[in-house]
Amino acid sequence: MKTLDDLLGEGVSGRRVLVRADLNVPFEKNNPGVISDDGRIRAVLPTLVALRDAGARVLVCSHLGRPKGAPDPKFTLAPVAARLGELLGAPAVFAADTVGPDAQAKAAALTEGQVLLLENLRFNAGETSKDDAERGGFADQLAAFADAYVDDAFGAVHRKHASVYDVPARLPHYAGGLVLRELEVLKKVTDSPEQPYVVVLGGSKVSDKLAVIQALLPKVDKLLVGGGMCFTFLKAQGHEVGNSLLEADMVQTCADLLEQAKGRIVLPVDVVAATEFSADADHVTVSASQIPADRLGLDIGPESVALFAEAIGGAKTLFWNGPMGVFELAPFAAGTRGVAEAITKIDGFSVVGGGDSAAAVRTLGLDETAFGHISTGGGASLEYLEGKTLPGVAALEAS
Ligand code: 3PG
Ligand code: MG
Repeated sequence: MKTLDDLLGEGVSGRRVLVRADLNVPFEKNNPGVISDDGRIRAVLPTLVALRDAGARVLVCSHLGRPKGAPDPKFTLAPVAARLGELLGAPAVFAADTVGPDAQAKAAALTEGQVLLLENLRFNAGETSKDDAERGGFADQLAAFADAYVDDAFGAVHRKHASVYDVPARLPHYAGGLVLRELEVLKKVTDSPEQPYVVVLGGSKVSDKLAVIQALLPKVDKLLVGGGMCFTFLKAQGHEVGNSLLEADMVQTCADLLEQAKGRIVLPVDVVAATEFSADADHVTVSASQIPADRLGLDIGPESVALFAEAIGGAKTLFWNGPMGVFELAPFAAGTRGVAEAITKIDGFSVVGGGDSAAAVRTLGLDETAFGHISTGGGASLEYLEGKTLPGVAALEAS
């Protein structure tokens, strides 16, 4: 796999380099247009700065959210372009379309060391199409902008999308520093995890995490489960979960996993149960086996945090994906905060996998440097741990 350093070694002065970035950042719930965590923009900055400083004409492309293949102002990258310019210390030029007349004019006018951000890739049906020819047609248009391609969008390498999978087949292609570092860390955790290996999983759905649970269960000493997905496990243990999130069709699967894990899956022993999904809702901490019928669990409780912290404390390798509760709402943030703080204290190597957990670390004001590695890719890191082939990585490896 060729790398950004190889490209820089070839010399990029005056060349047009297309960088696929993952600038899919979260926005404040009540302030559309205000970025709540710019971690993904900062993560790709070193690549953009290196290319710019070497005199390249830098074209950046990314998706944002999941628009349906047509322009949708809700998902414009314009606020990202503004933030990118601030971080670069020089305005980023923004194209109001991805491969249309504005992008073409601005790409043509780009000077050495300038950075241009194209509008959301997913405003084009070809980006995510399952049809190879449709994706290829869009990839042709993107590839026409540049004479080299750098993929630094680790968060999207698990997507077989035009900008991730088809463009590298059309241009000399190189892995950016972020992608390389992410892959190196995940390889280390997968191939030679120092024991004890503890995994903490949260997030809302068991079905999303099933494959990774199955892949990791034989390798881990403990698998701690919090977040919305814990209620399906609690149900499988025979507890009533009130109005909590429940995947009824996964209860038997969870029962089977608990059986197979022989005590290595650890569930919360108490939960914060609220009357409704709201920051103002009445909430009480109850035993995980006694969630009232008219309440829903929105966080793990303090006894669970203590139980999880004890297991985390002994870890030499730790992987965490998914918040323990609805951390965006202050009354339900303590579980995620407590677990994250326990992770910062381990005498071992910790990996925070993913969009939401990484955002939680930063929005809760935790010390980022206290973690071994904070990944920019949630789905991508999970699919790596599942042992799947990542289309974006396969495309970079192809000569
Ligand atoms: C993410 O946020 O997980 C990545 O940016 C990928 O986005 P996607 O799940 O919409 O493909
Ligand atoms: Mg995602």
